[in-house]
Amino acid sequence: MNILSVTAEIFPLVKTGGLADVAGSLPKALAAHGIHTRSLVPGYPSVMRALTGASPVTQYDCLFGERATLVAGRTDGLDLLALDAPGFFDRQGGPYTDDHGKDYPDNWKRFAAFSFVAAQVAEHGVAGWRPDIIHAHDWHPALSLVYLKFASRVEIPRVLTVHNLAFQGQFPARRFTELGLPDEAYSIEGLEYYGDLGYLKGGLQAADAITVVSPTYAREIMSPTFGMGLEGVMNARHDDVIGIVNGIDMEVWNPSSDPYIENHFSTRTPLRRLPNRQKLLDRFGLPDTAGPVFATVNRLTWQKGMDLLAGVVDEIVKGGGKLIVHGQGDAEIEDAFIEAARRFPHSVSVEIGYDEPLAHQIHAGADAMLVPSRFEPCGLTQLYALRYGCVPIVARTGGLSETIIDANDAALHAQVATGIQFSPVDANGLRLALRRAFRLFRRRRVWENLRRQGMRTDCSWHRSAAQYAELYGAMLTPEIRLAG
Ligand code: ADP
Ligand code: GLC
Repeated sequence: MNILSVTAEIFPLVKTGGLADVAGSLPKALAAHGIHTRSLVPGYPSVMRALTGASPVTQYDCLFGERATLVAGRTDGLDLLALDAPGFFDRQGGPYTDDHGKDYPDNWKRFAAFSFVAAQVAEHGVAGWRPDIIHAHDWHPALSLVYLKFASRVEIPRVLTVHNLAFQGQFPARRFTELGLPDEAYSIEGLEYYGDLGYLKGGLQAADAITVVSPTYAREIMSPTFGMGLEGVMNARHDDVIGIVNGIDMEVWNPSSDPYIENHFSTRTPLRRLPNRQKLLDRFGLPDTAGPVFATVNRLTWQKGMDLLAGVVDEIVKGGGKLIVHGQGDAEIEDAFIEAARRFPHSVSVEIGYDEPLAHQIHAGADAMLVPSRFEPCGLTQLYALRYGCVPIVARTGGLSETIIDANDAALHAQVATGIQFSPVDANGLRLALRRAFRLFRRRRVWENLRRQGMRTDCSWHRSAAQYAELYGAMLTPEIRLAG
């Protein structure tokens, strides 16, 4: 079976968050099911550098006004197609925003061009290769499904995965005439979205199956609180929605062989983890401590509850804990953490930025990982934390609520607890969770059990890749109906 996976990010070539990790690791897991994935990605500079010498397969003299070449190549175990369109993708700044964090004004066109090419590949194949299914991730390539539904004669099954409903790709309706779609595509069944164009909305309508990155988030987005305006569409498509929780790449995130950490460890050698903790404290200029070292590696945004965390730093300091923050995001939240580090130089340390090796080192050294998200479709940091013996403290929402087992008395007694969950997700809820963490940390045996149970949790793609394989199989054999 051949899958065309279409994604704006893929680890290790281009990453702003978990989407890249999933797009980069799922293909490897699917291979075990005899499924071959080819991933189509925008030809950002980092992608083109990795594909030096790759062969051109299709040439476009004027793709939405730009010259473009589709190239095919392999790197890091991935089979890739990259859309080399320097006018769209060879830019300073990130994949979606400029150096100042402002959306590129032509994002509507960049991702329309990308989606158009994806639809072409789905329809005609490339260089003798043909996909059986197209699988688009998030809003950026969602328009490809709209092209296939409204402007193609080929019936290829269409899958859309929702990683985060908060990012929707909404653009002015006047752009519609430039997309090259028939008029009926601007309708309730198509792209029309509150009088604008909604790329994700169009994709949700055009998909044959919609997967959401956790069953809990799949339920949550049926309601106005989490649906972000798309709850009506989600409810209308209810029967075609399936929640499949993300797995992680067990090789990239492996504490017994991770090249980014100095002291390797496993469930059998937990003491070897300790020097990583010391190194981390040194790296962040914090004194040695008997209290817990809390950390967060995160986008510093409202979604992630980072403003809540910045507001309760005193609770950590008061209890004798340390806080390490690594991330970037909203200027106000960044400033709040920088200010906290200035106020409590011996307890709080912050490094604004995005650094993959450092993320690994923090997971390998901290005692607890804070993930106080207001909503979290799946979340990967808590899974990496589990694997690295760093106890996750998470908000009870979305994928966080189903990947972490709360350390309540029953779960502790049964030795199945893996972390701490809290709700409601507000400053007080977070304070109470921190106090629970301090109490559990003082009970050394209990904490060690939590850590060990977490490390034993199966966070691999094993089960979830089988669910994707089953879904794909059912789509190619329509008489088999999927339960749930
Ligand atoms: P999201 O995709 O919503 O940001 P996830 O938890 O699914 O959240 O994935 C986040 C990914 O981004 C993880 O791989 C995490 O390690 C990484 N990440 C987040 N912040 C940073 C950072 N400052 N430096 C390096 N990696 C980061
Ligand atoms: C999104 C979500 C996150 C999820 C990731 C990968 O970025 O915010 O919860 O883990 O996608 O699916």
